Amino acid sequence: MAKKRPSLTVGVLLLLFGASAFCAHNERYRPQFHFSPRTNWTNDPCGLVYAFGKYHLFFQHNPFANRWGHMSWGHAVSTDLVHWSQLPVAIPEGKKVAIFTGSSVFDRKNTSGLCKSKQGCIVSIYTGETPKTAGTPERQTQNLAVSQDGRTWTKYADNPVLDLGRGDSRDPKVFWYAPAKRWIMVIVLANERKVSIFSSPNLKHWHHESDFGPQGATRGVWECPDLYSLPVPGHTGETRWILKVGLNPARVPGGSGEQYFIGRFDGTHFRNDNPSGDIHWLDYGRDSYCELTFNNEPKGQTPRMIGWMDNWDYAGVAPTLPWRGAMTLPKALSLAEVNGSLALVQKPVEQLRSLRGDAFEYEGANEADLNRKVAAWPHRSQSFELDATIRLGAAKQIVWRLLQGKNDETLVGYDALKQELFVDRSHCANAHFSKAFPSRTTAPLKIGNGRLRLHIFVDRSSIEVFAQGGRIAMTNLTFPTPSSTGLSLDSSDEIGSIHLKISKLRSIWK
Ligand code: FRU
Repeated sequence: MAKKRPSLTVGVLLLLFGASAFCAHNERYRPQFHFSPRTNWTNDPCGLVYAFGKYHLFFQHNPFANRWGHMSWGHAVSTDLVHWSQLPVAIPEGKKVAIFTGSSVFDRKNTSGLCKSKQGCIVSIYTGETPKTAGTPERQTQNLAVSQDGRTWTKYADNPVLDLGRGDSRDPKVFWYAPAKRWIMVIVLANERKVSIFSSPNLKHWHHESDFGPQGATRGVWECPDLYSLPVPGHTGETRWILKVGLNPARVPGGSGEQYFIGRFDGTHFRNDNPSGDIHWLDYGRDSYCELTFNNEPKGQTPRMIGWMDNWDYAGVAPTLPWRGAMTLPKALSLAEVNGSLALVQKPVEQLRSLRGDAFEYEGANEADLNRKVAAWPHRSQSFELDATIRLGAAKQIVWRLLQGKNDETLVGYDALKQELFVDRSHCANAHFSKAFPSRTTAPLKIGNGRLRLHIFVDRSSIEVFAQGGRIAMTNLTFPTPSSTGLSLDSSDEIGSIHLKISKLRSIWK
């Protein structure tokens, strides 16, 4: 029997479908090795947990539109923290209740009584937000949803599990505190610039232990707290606790940003080791917010964190379609002693190496020679990793000109006189979609023996800089012309030497 040929309309439809499938995750500005949802809006990551053999990333998501609203938990999974598969929405908005940021735990011992099998279950703890109406004020309560399989979630029938009668208590981060055999929850009292600490034996009944704050930076409302411990280098068995909070707005040059406190936690109270006025910024760029760590990571694994790579100042008008918002790279955390005190160190996870493709290497001191060779390198793209160690020599300033085209570029540089690292995106092609976007961000950075180490990840519309092995992190969005793949080094005077490796990074999307 002769095969029936598809009609013209079916053919056209197939062609269109084929083309759109082919284009998935390849639109203008679309990050190639960062997670972003297929379509529509995302802000904070939430509920990060390792369970049932996978890393689960949930995210504040509007399943219906490319702007904030209908807040639900979108869901993606990964086995290596690098390649992500997006799954159906895990926790959809309720009747007039939005599902705000929170966390997930793996309830291995069924302390909640909500797990149906011996293997345990995932319990997600989220803020339910009921917006203000004519007669009632806004309400934010803490709630549970349970998953027996890591794919579908059921909201707990007796929600909420914590109701403080407030409209600014949100973003629960819950974790198991082994010494007291208790779950600990930290939430913000956003308007009071406080973190409130609770404990529970079963995730359902919560006891108030203490409040921390206001301390450090207090300009904007506090959001997205996290609390975790890290080993103190050189002191076996000693740990310090990191209490991280987002604040909006944060500081010059504006918008949302985050700070952290280093101190001690005894199961009930967090005590800051530093004077209460000290401020430690988590990231000096403008596009890192609500950075949260994973729960239930395999034993011995140093905590790893992912954030929202955006800023409340302009996220709503970012020039991307059909999605808005992406996550930062996953970063491994540790402590280091810097100038006599402890500081947080962030390093992009090693698994990213699996994406490395063609590489360009250079060792020498001849900038002109280096620039000629990079210009001739046929594998320049907008998704790459640049790892450079530079001895500054006579140079008072060095600048990497990145994503460079005829009329646009983004700069990453170091000013030795001011002892300052900087990223300047004011001359990227599309800097003026929002008045708040053009900026030059800076971070104080003293470089000991004159060696500047910059590890830079460029992914079409973002630049994440890790300086001196992760002592400084600076995350910024940038919107270049898609053909702008120019790259060069520019120094004020002769540099001492440079050791450089640029690796093209493969897309994580098929
Ligand atoms: C932080 C935040 C959270 C809140 C969520 C709502 O970016 O404002 O405090 O839970 O976003 O989407």
